[in-house]
Amino acid sequence: MSYSFEDAASPYLKGLPPYRHGRPFVECSRGPVSEDWVKLDYNENPLGPSPLAVKAIQGVLHGINRYPDCQGHDLKGRLAERLGLSAAHVALGNGSSELIDLCARCFLGPGVEAIIGDPAFAFYGRVVQAAGGQRVSVPLKAFRHDLQAMAERITPRTRMVFIGNPNNPTGSCVPPHDIAAFIEALPERVIVLLDEAYREYLPDELQPDTVRYVREGRPVIALRSFSKIYGLSGLRIGYAIAPPDCVALIDKARQPFNVNALAGAAAAAALGDEAHLAGSKRLNEDGKQYLYQALEELGLRYVPTAANFILVDIERDVDQVVRALAEKRVAVCSLARYGLRTSLRVTIGSSHENERFIAVLREVLTTS
Ligand SMILES: Cc1ncc(COP(=O)(O)O)c(C=O)c1O
Repeated sequence: MSYSFEDAASPYLKGLPPYRHGRPFVECSRGPVSEDWVKLDYNENPLGPSPLAVKAIQGVLHGINRYPDCQGHDLKGRLAERLGLSAAHVALGNGSSELIDLCARCFLGPGVEAIIGDPAFAFYGRVVQAAGGQRVSVPLKAFRHDLQAMAERITPRTRMVFIGNPNNPTGSCVPPHDIAAFIEALPERVIVLLDEAYREYLPDELQPDTVRYVREGRPVIALRSFSKIYGLSGLRIGYAIAPPDCVALIDKARQPFNVNALAGAAAAAALGDEAHLAGSKRLNEDGKQYLYQALEELGLRYVPTAANFILVDIERDVDQVVRALAEKRVAVCSLARYGLRTSLRVTIGSSHENERFIAVLREVLTTS
């Protein structure tokens, strides 16, 4: 009989389902994404990466026989300067996903609870479970984080509260003054993990003053990503902004060279590419208005978004529709696994991609 690794596994991993991609993604991701796929399932930037990032990668390619700078001095310095903080307030990660995981490993364990909105980014629940912590789910209210209900669920066992702002998969955000009031009223030893992967899509007046909380030494960890508006998903790089003693803990938990040389160089270059950032925002805004109108013409309800994706209620079995869309090489995300059995999440793409999505959706809905 062969050895059972499952039996030998950490008890926290037992019962954790494997991370699965939808079928459409599996097909798309075999080799370079084929041109004829309209890929609107992963909230990526349809404009592509910043040309400055691509140039920066070319500049460091010849040196990849060397390990990268394990402290990420250059990128941390640039981030700190932009944020008005010190480099000691910044941690780098292999995507913000790695930082979500590291935070859970730093602060959670048996007997400790983490409060998470429902639905929210599925990865939060996974890292809490893998760290041995207990997830406490708080339903969203009108598709938005219900901060009051979350505050009411805080007990002496609570160590973390996860707030995706904007939230995935709903695209909703909470007004900055609500976040400020929530942080102000936090009992001691409760940490807010403010996931700002889509922050740059928010209009200025809806961007919380995250940096101020961190500067004041509040128990706040803000996570940001280069995968979304910066168009660097494939490189895997993100960063955390937190008080220095928190950054020092994350540094202890991470592996030494968690951010590769290409990602570090590309991210530093992308940060300074204001034209790419503005173009990406504009494309997203135009696409959003087009999709809103087209969805209304199809008689479909959607959640107004503050990010680069839209939750759409198609009022029929979503998995069937997502499959039918994939057969026509349009990839979107089914939200059935979030308990939203008639909803999908579509990334706001280029105008061609948005038009193709709407045309194929119209066809699928009229024939299903
Ligand atoms: C809310 C949210 N947080 C974090 C991430 C992870 O992003 P990254 O690519 O930086 O790991 C995602 C990815 O989709 C997300 O939607």
